[in-house]
Amino acid sequence: MSGSSGLAGVIGWPARHSLSPVLHRHWLNRHKIAGDFVSLPVRPADFGLIIRALPRMGFAGVNVTVPHKEAAFALAQSLDDDARACGAVNLLVFDGGTIRGANTDAQGFSASMEQSLGAGALRIGPVVVLGAGGAARAVLLALIRAGASEIRLLNRTRARAETLARLFEKAPIRVIDWSDRAQALSGAMLLVNTTSLGMAGQDPLDIPLDALPAAAAVADIVYRPLETDLLRAARARGLRTADGLGMLMHQAVPAFAAFYGVTPAVTPELRAPLEAALHG
Ligand code: ATR
Repeated sequence: MSGSSGLAGVIGWPARHSLSPVLHRHWLNRHKIAGDFVSLPVRPADFGLIIRALPRMGFAGVNVTVPHKEAAFALAQSLDDDARACGAVNLLVFDGGTIRGANTDAQGFSASMEQSLGAGALRIGPVVVLGAGGAARAVLLALIRAGASEIRLLNRTRARAETLARLFEKAPIRVIDWSDRAQALSGAMLLVNTTSLGMAGQDPLDIPLDALPAAAAVADIVYRPLETDLLRAARARGLRTADGLGMLMHQAVPAFAAFYGVTPAVTPELRAPLEAALHG
């Protein structure tokens, strides 16, 4: 265990109903660890100050969420490969006086896809990725590492997709216009939505799935609502699906291991309280 007090948390702003405390507390109970995991709403201006204070308060580390992932990247004294590749940090570990930055999103996405769609879920081609933000970057990293043979990348702002594609120089990424999204699905084996479209309070994601083959799968990283219109449409067509809760649960596994020294499992028993919190 990195910190002797068994204390960790999630740092973000604005204060919102984070699922991370539900998730980590479930594992703490499951493993009978006498620790706690708290929500830390912190304004961007206070981020550095608070992070430097947390180790002195006995924190082993924190998960980092919107809008602090880039600030955490800048502040960390060391970075793992994925944090470097993503240009963002979603996990800070306080380790013997130093602050280590990591990014567990790509690993979380891979593990989630393998659990819900089977081993080799990312190795199949072609894959269509919607979006070019931070989440898309982690998804691309996971796909490239898994050996995806063809990635079609679409974003409303095409220039952002092109910038992202350039970051992964040798990868088989093709940028396609957002307006061609329906046709881009032709022959694709996997569709991944990394945009905020379809999220509660956001615009709907308007993409007809007709061109997807019957063997294709559809993944959404949005988990509010859990069943997005995209996933509902995919299920109605009989396609396999993976929801956004999977990535959230799996990205937390290495974080819990770093905070509390035990590698937890993603089980149906973990999903139940998260679904209850989402619906509550
Ligand atoms: P994150 O880091 O969580 O991925 P982000 O960087 O804000 O978040 O990215 C949000 C993604 O949703 C972007 O790909 C964004 O497209 P733009 O790059 O064109 O902004 C996409 N998005 C948000 N609202 C959208 C809309 N109404 N139509 C199409 N795409 C949208």
